[in-house]
Amino acid sequence: MSSEAFDAVDIIRTKRDGEALSEEQIRWVIEAYTRGAVAEEQMAALNMAILLNGMGRAEIATWTRAMIDSGERMDFSVLPVPTTDKHSTGGVGDKITLPLAPLVASFGVAVPQLSGRGLGHTGGTLDKLESIPGWRADLSNEEMLAQLRHVGAVICQAGSGLAPADRKLYALRDVTGTVESIPLIASSIMSKKIAEGTGALVLDVKVGSGAFMKDAGAARELARTMVDLGTDAGVTTRALLTDMSTPLGLTAGNALEVREAVEVLDGGGPPDVVELTVALAREMLSAAGREDVDVAAALTDGRAMDTWRAMITAQGGDPDAPLPTATDTDVVLAPADGVLVELDALAVGVAAWRLGAGRARREDAVQAGAGVQMHAKPGGAVRAGEPLMTLHSDTPERFDRARQALADAAVIAPEGSRPPGRPLILDRLVAG
Ligand code: URA
Repeated sequence: MSSEAFDAVDIIRTKRDGEALSEEQIRWVIEAYTRGAVAEEQMAALNMAILLNGMGRAEIATWTRAMIDSGERMDFSVLPVPTTDKHSTGGVGDKITLPLAPLVASFGVAVPQLSGRGLGHTGGTLDKLESIPGWRADLSNEEMLAQLRHVGAVICQAGSGLAPADRKLYALRDVTGTVESIPLIASSIMSKKIAEGTGALVLDVKVGSGAFMKDAGAARELARTMVDLGTDAGVTTRALLTDMSTPLGLTAGNALEVREAVEVLDGGGPPDVVELTVALAREMLSAAGREDVDVAAALTDGRAMDTWRAMITAQGGDPDAPLPTATDTDVVLAPADGVLVELDALAVGVAAWRLGAGRARREDAVQAGAGVQMHAKPGGAVRAGEPLMTLHSDTPERFDRARQALADAAVIAPEGSRPPGRPLILDRLVAG
């Protein structure tokens, strides 16, 4: 006779038949799965039942709390300043965290940014920063707190004690076709962000070919679910829905993106990267109670750059060291004269990944210099035979596969054409 409070099969049947799970059932199944008393195949079946039948607001909140309670909770209340953080659901060329964290911290609000590595076609913030010679991602909780006190911003990897249930669940969802469930994505992201202990949180929910969510309706539902979860947990939470049908900026790849982020911190950089960095900084600062600041000025007067340099140095990096470059390049030429009206984010992301910028399995290494450099953005004029993109890799045998991914990525229309008018910031959600 088992001493367990519930039977996993009963819980699977409940969700399979479209009924709501009770708080006790959810708490037990997450706790028992984390300690190994619920089998992987049982949790896989439950995840699939959740993906097919959904969960209500109370169920999602309980599921999230149970994942938070599976591990430690960080506490920054000892800091004399408010804390604010950002999470992006991931996209191609999304290097925004790099200029954003020091920019926000330069206004005296602390930014504890726990980030991840890339998997598949979207890059990971830690992979990008690791292209800076000497920089290290693995800080202890004490080092993180000390850096927040002295520099104001830290970007590092989450310790293994934070939401361990999510780590196990996410690995299972990855191999069982159950990642794309709004309740499971929302609870996975928010359990880590709430456990991280930030006082305010801004979510950048991406929409488009290069994003998890291909259509605005699903992205809005994910954003609403996460804003509600954060708000219910006492975190001031807001979300922006932003376009990911074309890459952000002109680079996709680790060191290539760091270089572009530094251009933004130096008062330059591509207009779309600057626009989104400034918009997210305003949201993060206002969510932390700072409305009265000129965010853009800190990018041009060197304040954000000073904080960046201090942040990189504090984590062992040399902000003045040359960034790695790939050994080989291959130039993709424009096939016709005209206007670039589409440049598909997913195709560019897959190409960067195939060039070596990303990994197929968690244990793979990434190439720091690999990636795609774009020479035009939608709306820009192109000339037949001139460079459209430059591919970078240490393994030139990868160029053919990257070119295949890019075969239909660029659409060039006759001169005078205009690209579809898509704003970068599509919507904004607040508590309510
Ligand atoms: N990122 C996460 O952390 N979890 C998900 O489920 C999806 C994206």
